[in-house]
Amino acid sequence: MNAKRRRSGRFLVVDGPDGVGKSTQVQLLVEQLDQRKVHTLSLREPGGTTAGEIIRSLLLEKRQERLTAVAESFLFQAARAQLVEEVIRPALKRGTWVVCDRFTLSTLVYQGAAGKVNAQAIERMSEIATGGLRPDLYVVLWADPRVCVGRRRDREADRMESKGAKFLRDVSAAYKRLASRGRGCKLIDAGAPIEEVRARIWKLVEPLLGKQA
Ligand code: TYD
Repeated sequence: MNAKRRRSGRFLVVDGPDGVGKSTQVQLLVEQLDQRKVHTLSLREPGGTTAGEIIRSLLLEKRQERLTAVAESFLFQAARAQLVEEVIRPALKRGTWVVCDRFTLSTLVYQGAAGKVNAQAIERMSEIATGGLRPDLYVVLWADPRVCVGRRRDREADRMESKGAKFLRDVSAAYKRLASRGRGCKLIDAGAPIEEVRARIWKLVEPLLGKQA
C-alpha cells in the first residue's frame, strides 16, 4: 500500500503589545477558520501545558517582583519549549491548524528591547526552544500606546503590565521597529475598528487555505 502523505497544519501567530486587541482577533480568526471547516487549536503563551501554566503564574504574579529580565527570558523560553514539543508539533502533524497568541517576538520585545537582555542571546534561546519551528504567518498588531492603554483599562494589570509607562512605551516602539524590519512579520494597524482589523488579518490567512501540504 502506498504510504499516504500526511496533511500538515499551518502555524499562525498573532502578537503585539498589551491591550492592542490580540485575544479578540485570535478568537475571530479561529471562528472564521472553523466556518471554513479548518480544524484549529487556539493557544496562548506562556501556557498551554501543565508546566507552562505553572511557569505562567510564576511570571505574571505581582508577588514575583524580583525576577530579573534574564530569569524571565529563561522561564518564557522553557514554557515555549514545552508547548512546541508537547502541543504544537503534534497538532501540526495531525493536520490541525495552530493559532498562537504571542510567540518568539514577545521575548525579543519585552525581555530584549524593553528589559535590556542581549537580543542575540534571546534569538539563540528561541532557536533552541522552538527547535527551529517557524510560523507560516506571524501577524503583529500595532496601535498607538494611548489606544492600548484605553483598551486595557477594564482589566487588572499583570506583573509585566505593571512595569510602568516607560516600559510599555519601549514595548510599543520595539514591536513597531522589529516587525517592520522583515523577520517574516506582517505589521497590521490595529488602531482601526475591530471588523477592519479582522478583515486585514483574514486577507493574509486566506491564501494559506489553498496551500495545505
Ligand atoms: P497575557 O495576560 O497573556 O497578556 P496578553 O493578554 O496581553 O497577551 O500575559 C502575557 C504577558 O507576558 C504580557 O504582558 C507579555 C508578557 N510576555 C513577555 O514578557 N515575554 C514573552 O516571551 C511572552 C510570551 C509574554
